[in-house]
Amino acid sequence: MEFDDDNSRLELKGETRNLIREIFELENNGHKDARELYADEIAGFFVKTDDGSYTLSSDNRHDQPSETLHSTHGALTEAYEKFVKPSKLLEKSEQRDVIRVLDICSGIGYNSTALLTYLKDEDVEIEIDMIESSVETLAATLFMPNLTKAHVYIKKSIEQFLIDNEYLRYNKVLSDIPSNIRINIHVCDAREFVKSADNKGYDAVFLDPFSPSKSPELYSVDFFSKIKSLISDDALVLTYSAASPVRSAFVHAGYFIGEGPRFHRSGGTVASVSLDVIDKPLSFADEKVIALSDVGVPFIDPDLSDDFDTIVGRRQDVRSKIRGVTVFPSSSKLPRYLGVDSDEVDPKLLDKLNSMVSSMGFESINDVNVRAILDVDMSLDSSSRIIALERNLKDVIESLKK
Ligand SMILES: C[S@@+](CC[C@H](N)C(=O)[O-])C[C@H]1O[C@@H](n2cnc3c(N)ncnc32)[C@H](O)[C@@H]1O
Repeated sequence: MEFDDDNSRLELKGETRNLIREIFELENNGHKDARELYADEIAGFFVKTDDGSYTLSSDNRHDQPSETLHSTHGALTEAYEKFVKPSKLLEKSEQRDVIRVLDICSGIGYNSTALLTYLKDEDVEIEIDMIESSVETLAATLFMPNLTKAHVYIKKSIEQFLIDNEYLRYNKVLSDIPSNIRINIHVCDAREFVKSADNKGYDAVFLDPFSPSKSPELYSVDFFSKIKSLISDDALVLTYSAASPVRSAFVHAGYFIGEGPRFHRSGGTVASVSLDVIDKPLSFADEKVIALSDVGVPFIDPDLSDDFDTIVGRRQDVRSKIRGVTVFPSSSKLPRYLGVDSDEVDPKLLDKLNSMVSSMGFESINDVNVRAILDVDMSLDSSSRIIALERNLKDVIESLKK
């Protein structure tokens, strides 16, 4: 039994993790009912979400509050709406013999459960690689109420993994996994997995870490570049995050990007190396913020091995160096209003916009140079427009220096 106590990653709340470790120890010492004995205590850590499915809470990261592993608006619903339905795997399963999925940050297995449930009537082989750094979180799955039949297949695979790796001893999940389903479990940092993974040509990637401010290592340009070498040409990489540095990292790693489906108030991002599978571009307002302001500076992790503070500090250094010098300051997302007709803007906002552009050496938002920055071909896709905006800004700033 080995535990990885690298606390630079954000994982399950400490008390839940410690309880699971106690269960591992008891069962390993031959206590056949250890899981039953602790079931109620573990259930005390469950958080009920709006669709009736349960989630768990993370640890705290520095002084930031903990996050739940899923949306409190509905953990299982989120898995369907943000990952499974937009993955286009239903259509693909009708055309292919095998579907391969990379489930990054598989947690308590809801995304994989939702996928298997969604494809349950399809005549297709399904192979899922579930990647999760916390063995205790994987084990917590065994205590969650069953969601669907497929959830029990996930539980069975997890239990087998835990027995094979000597965390647990007894077979208690009574189910056989259908022969068309293969679930491979990998307990490691997702960065280690992608560094050494074979190119299986995944048909979809569920990218479900905690938010970028808490798990920046899984949203870097370098991590996304590595994933690119593992996917098929029409695969979609799906994340619930719509944050500018995440979108910018996809663009700089060479993906086409688009708007992910909305679930409650939050959107998401879909990315692919093929433009054909992107249904909805980003709004031009969001593209301007990503390309022209410091909030669009992505996370960088060159060897896929830096710790939280290094990755966050590196981005912060770049932001403070270029903010107001080679890119507009991102305050209040002002850059989204660049190019908007000044008659249509609230006078207070107009003052703020004019002072933002003048701090960068432009006369006003109507300055011909500001218009030159925004001069991009609107028939292009979002990634190309973002790159064109970045290039225009660089050229204009260079020309002003002369
Ligand atoms: C938002 S939860 C994922 C929920 C999950 N997709 C599900 O369906 O239940 C994020 C998960 O990422 C895991 N994690 C955090 N850092 C990681 C890393 N560097 N590599 C792999 N997993 C990581 C955490 O332990 C946590 O279980």
